[in-house]
Amino acid sequence: MRRRDAYAEPFRIKSVEPIRMTDREHRRKMISEAGYNLFNLSSDDVYIDLLTDSGTGAMSDAQWAAMMTGDEAYAGSRSYVALKEAVKDTFGYDFMLPVHQGRGAEKVFMAMMVKPGDTIPGNMHFDTTIGHILLRGGRPLDLVAEKGYEIASDDPFKGDIDLERLEETLSDGKLSVPFVIMTITCNSNGGQPVSMRNMKMASDICRRYDKPMFFDCARFAENSCFIKMREQGYKDKSVKEIARETFALGDGCLMSSKKDGLVNIGGLLCFKDESLYRKAWEYEIPFEGFITYGGMAGRDMAALAQGLREVVEYEYLEDRLGQAAYLADLLIERGVPVITPAGGHGVFIDAKEYLPSIPQLEFPAQALGVELYVEAGVRGVELGSCAFGHKDPATGAEVPHKLELLRLAIPRRTYTDRHMMVVARAFEEISARKAGIGGYRIVWQTEVLRHFTARFEPVG
Ligand code: F0G
Repeated sequence: MRRRDAYAEPFRIKSVEPIRMTDREHRRKMISEAGYNLFNLSSDDVYIDLLTDSGTGAMSDAQWAAMMTGDEAYAGSRSYVALKEAVKDTFGYDFMLPVHQGRGAEKVFMAMMVKPGDTIPGNMHFDTTIGHILLRGGRPLDLVAEKGYEIASDDPFKGDIDLERLEETLSDGKLSVPFVIMTITCNSNGGQPVSMRNMKMASDICRRYDKPMFFDCARFAENSCFIKMREQGYKDKSVKEIARETFALGDGCLMSSKKDGLVNIGGLLCFKDESLYRKAWEYEIPFEGFITYGGMAGRDMAALAQGLREVVEYEYLEDRLGQAAYLADLLIERGVPVITPAGGHGVFIDAKEYLPSIPQLEFPAQALGVELYVEAGVRGVELGSCAFGHKDPATGAEVPHKLELLRLAIPRRTYTDRHMMVVARAFEEISARKAGIGGYRIVWQTEVLRHFTARFEPVG
């Protein structure tokens, strides 16, 4: 925070979007009608929207200008060529397929790579990645190092994979493992970075067992900047050089460009190897679209090409990571338990610790999310036992998730530090009355990815 005072945002505001504050009574009514699920709210009823950093950021003037140059040709669009060049320049990969967003890449990739019964190890898969693996009959396996589950820590790289367990998994003759995924940064445990050292060693293990390693690289620039700031030997390298070094360790990547692409929609599926790229065509064309647009408008590809160049600028990233750390500091000062170090894209609150009287199966992070919304119109998202809990296959009983988090994800270049202060102040109020906050039960849910649409009611 002290550092935060030393400089200002490396941009000024050229276009504004009004947002409005509502009163508590209105919000109480709205959240009740929404089945106590923050996803069901209308954004007009939200003051500061920290539901996600995905597709919610502000584009630069250069990106808006690029939109006007978009070439909407079905095949061989000029904007596709510009995007391909930006991908080559930033990632180093020659073979790229545009997709409509990250899960589009997952759908194409899992369809071509996963067979029923396969095990898919990774540091910690994101929820849609888990969904796509399960839909193909595969088994997702999280192998994040034990430190990745610690809440308060000063470990600089809590997204690292457990290398011993990775090797054990790959050497287990009973398992069929088609590839390994490294998620950078690791969203599900707090936007935590993976070190270059860990990625190098994981890549060596994969090579030894002849398994390809792919990156889920939605937040690759944030990961690269953390490496620059925290890992020995990287201080003097540019973020782009670090990104190139990262991607050289793998065989390709799946990207939701709604994060570090600095755009509102879009995604990428990239390969080092031409034969896999050609194989992906068989799925890309029926699922996403022709190989030179894959579900993206030409103008969106043009904006993404520009976004990939902007996102690796150090001044941008220093401000971005600084704002998340600032919000974390404000909350820590107010006695709110958050994952430390702060992640790249937001702050993750430990609801288990903050609301200890709510049993995990009554969703304390969901309860906290509802309270924060009612208090100040701030919308976060539950990443706990609703999003990641599962049923025990033997008994059918609900098994809670290890972590019970409320995530406050910060959209890129969108909110100011004063907005962050509003969030912090809301917690002062909530802390004063937290003993009276109760849990929730689910009254309706889907089989897969239930948290998006589940409906709740207060317990008791
Ligand atoms: N992988 C990671 C690491 C993600 O964080 C996301 C999305 C996806 C894949 C899927 O990408 O949304 O473009 O289809 N994360 C968003 C979030 C939704 O809120 O964290 P998508």
